[in-house]
Amino acid sequence: MYQLSPSMLSADFNRLGEQLKTIEESGVKWLHIDVMDGDFVPSISFGMPVITSIRKESGLFFDVHLMVSNPDRYIEDFAKAGADLITVHAEACRHLEGCISQIHKAGCKAGVALNPATPLCQLDYVLHKVDMVLLMTVNTGFGGQSYIEKSTDKIKDLKAMIDERGLETDIQVDGGINQKTIDRVLEAGANIIVAGSAVFGGDIKANIAGFQDAFARHQ
Ligand code: DX5
Ligand code: ZN
Repeated sequence: MYQLSPSMLSADFNRLGEQLKTIEESGVKWLHIDVMDGDFVPSISFGMPVITSIRKESGLFFDVHLMVSNPDRYIEDFAKAGADLITVHAEACRHLEGCISQIHKAGCKAGVALNPATPLCQLDYVLHKVDMVLLMTVNTGFGGQSYIEKSTDKIKDLKAMIDERGLETDIQVDGGINQKTIDRVLEAGANIIVAGSAVFGGDIKANIAGFQDAFARHQ
């Protein structure tokens, strides 16, 4: 089952409520929420108060991507703010296995994210516990970058690893996904597609329709 998860980082924050309504009306079910702490990644984005505020009006599935050092400090807070799924970076956790349990205990689905240079073997002993793996397809931290070509092999290798183990883990890709790169990631096995600039740049409804067409081509 394919899902488009528009990355709110590229939204116009002056018109955030309106834009979230537009994506919901276009049939989108997920919202990708990028939280950056200025330490794990250079930039700072937004945190719990913004999520709490949009939760009041939105029926979207909140897919919260924590680009935060030692995210175990904040799991409860993000769950309370309204996260449905919380993804933490393997590189940012001292105790990844424990952090995944903490996310589940807080009542959320759990994802693990890997930066482009982080090998899949980091997942060896936790893959069975996670609902989703997020493969970064650009260097983590900013929207609007170009897709790293080597990511396609990594998606295929992860898909093979999941299939070999008889799991049904979702594969999310994040960074540089647009109408030019969507087909290769879907072919490789990704099923949850994050897109920021390719959704919020220009005509949001038309952009979403482009992704929905791509999903239909790969059914
Ligand atoms: C980058 C963020 C992404 C980003 C994607 O570190 O995790 O979610 O917003 O933006 P685009 O789709 O523009 O590359
Ligand atoms: Zn993200």
